[in-house]
Amino acid sequence: MPGASAPRGRALITYYGCGACHRISGIDQADGRVGPSLEGFAERRYVSGRLAATPASVAQWIVDPQRYLPQTIMPTLGVTPGQARDIVAYLYRQ
Ligand code: HEC
Repeated sequence: MPGASAPRGRALITYYGCGACHRISGIDQADGRVGPSLEGFAERRYVSGRLAATPASVAQWIVDPQRYLPQTIMPTLGVTPGQARDIVAYLYRQ
C-alpha cells in the first residue's frame, strides 16, 4: 500500500471502534468477539470467506462490506478509501 500509514491506521481503528467487534493486536480494548479476529491478518486468504484477501480487496471491504456480503452485520462506518488503506497497512504489519 504505497503512501499508506500504519500509525494513522491504528488511530483510525480506535476512532471507528472496530475493536468493539474485532480482536486486533496492539489496540487497547480491541477485544470484540462479534466479528472474526483480525490478528495475523497477513496470512488470511479470504475476506469473509468469499473475497480473495489482497490489501486492495480488504480496503474495499472496510469501505463498503455490504457490497460484498449484503447480509453482513458489519456496518458501513463511513471509512474513506484513503483511510481504509491506512487501516490495511496496520492490519498487514504483523
Ligand atoms: C458491529 C460489528 C462490527 C464493526 C463495528 C466492525 N466490523 Fe468488521 N466484521 C464484522 C463481522 C461480523 C465480520 C464478518 C463478516 C461476515 O461474514 O459477516 C467482519 C469482517 C471484517 C473483515 C474481514 C475479516 C475476515 O477474516 O474475513 C475485516 C478486514 C474487517 N471486518 C475490518 C473491520 C474494520 C477495519 C472495522 C472498523 C473500521 C470493522 N471491521 C468494524 C463486524 C464488525
